[in-house]
Amino acid sequence: GRGSKLIGSGSAVPKHVISNDELSKFVETSDEWIRVRTGIQSRRVITGKTAISLNYRTRLLIFLFLTRANAIPHKVIITSASLRGVPFSRRGDETVTSLSVESARKALEMANVKPEDVDLILLCTSTPDDLFGSAPQVQKELGCTKALAFDLTAACSGFVLGLVTATRFIKGGGYENVLVIGADALSRYVNWTDRGTCILFGDASGALLLQAADDDQDSLLGFDLHSDGNGDKHLHVRLDSAEPKSGLQNGATNGHATLPSRANYTCLEMNGKEVFRFAVKCVPLVVEAALQEAGLTGNNLDWLLLHQANQRILDSVSERLNIPADKVISNLANYGNTSAASIPLALDEAVRSGQVQPGHIVGTAGFGAGLTWGSAIVRW
Ligand code: ACO
Repeated sequence: GRGSKLIGSGSAVPKHVISNDELSKFVETSDEWIRVRTGIQSRRVITGKTAISLNYRTRLLIFLFLTRANAIPHKVIITSASLRGVPFSRRGDETVTSLSVESARKALEMANVKPEDVDLILLCTSTPDDLFGSAPQVQKELGCTKALAFDLTAACSGFVLGLVTATRFIKGGGYENVLVIGADALSRYVNWTDRGTCILFGDASGALLLQAADDDQDSLLGFDLHSDGNGDKHLHVRLDSAEPKSGLQNGATNGHATLPSRANYTCLEMNGKEVFRFAVKCVPLVVEAALQEAGLTGNNLDWLLLHQANQRILDSVSERLNIPADKVISNLANYGNTSAASIPLALDEAVRSGQVQPGHIVGTAGFGAGLTWGSAIVRW
C-alpha cells in the first residue's frame, strides 16, 4: 500500500497583537482572570497596515470632527465591524487566504517541493474569505498550477479531519504531494462585547505537506474521528435569517413569488462550561482509541499536541491520559484558540525550535464545534 509522509511544516500569524490588558479596556475582565482560567496572555488578529486601537466612541468623535471640519467623509472608513464594537481596524491586506499562502509557502520551502508539483490543497477553515471556498485562491497565489483545491469545514477539528482526508487521497493513488492548511479568523465572528468568548480566540494559519511514500514510511499511525450534531447548541455561528443585512426584507413579494433575503451570520455563541465538559470527557477517549488503532499506548508518545483551546483542558486531558506535563505542547499563551490553525501552528513552532525531532511520535487531537472531535497519531 501507499503511505503518507510528513515532509514540511509552516505557519503564519497576523501582525497585530491584543494583550489581556488591552482586552480589559473594553470588556469587564482582567489579565489575571484570563491567565488563571485559560492560560492565554495575548492573541493575534487580522487587521492591516493602518491598524489602530480606538474604541467606538473615539472613532465616532473623529468621524464627527472630520465631517464638521469638511474633511472628505468618504476617506474615513467606519466599517460595520467597528460598529459591532471591534476594538481594531479591519482595513488591510491580511486575510485567511494570505495567511494560508504564507504558511503553505514555508512548508513547501522546508520540504524543498516546488508549487507546481503539488497535487491537492485542502484548506481547513470555517472562516473563508469567500463562502464558495478560498482554497482555489490559495492555489492561485501559491502557483500550484496543477493542484485540485477545496475547503473543508469542521471548526477546531478541521485540521485533524483534513490530515486524515489527505492521507486517503494519497492512499487511493494519483496524488503525490498534498498540502493541508488549517486557517481561521474567528475574530470576524467573535462578539467583542462578550467577555465569556472574546478573550479566547485569535487568528492564524498552519500548514503541513504530505508526500506519497512506502507503507513503512507512513506518518499516520492511527486515527479515530467522531461527530455529534446534538451538541451544536453549545457552540455555533449560525445563519441569522431574522436580520437581513441588505436587499429584500424577509417575505418581500414580487408579483406572485416570495423572494428570499440576503443571509447574515450570528456572532460566535458558546456555552463554555458545556464545551469544557465535552472536551475533557471525549478527548482522552479519542486519543486512546487512536493509540489503540496504532498499536501504541500513551507511553509511546513523545508529544501530546491537543487543539489549543484552554490550558485547563490541556492539563485535564494529559492527566487523564497519564502523560507528563513536559510532553504536552502548548503555545496558546501567545495565540489563544486559533481554531483549525492551532495544531499545525504549534507543530510548526515545535519542529522549528527543535522540540519535535524526526521520528518523534505526536498524539494530536482536535475538538470543537459540530460537535466534532478526532485524534491522529503521527510520526514526524
Ligand atoms: N473575565 C472575568 N470574568 C468572567 C469572564 C472574563 N473574561 N468570563 C466569564 N466571567 C465570569 C462569569 O460571568 C462568571 O461570573 P458569575 O460567577 O458571577 O456568574 C464567572 O466568571 C465564571 O464563569 P464561567 O463561565 O463559569 O467560567 P469558567 O471557569 O467555565 O471559564 C471559559 C470560562 C474560559 C470560557 C471556559 O468555560 C472554557 O474555556 N470553556 C471551553 C471553551 C472552548 O474551548 N471553546 C472552544 C472550543 S473549539 C471551537 O470549535 C471554537
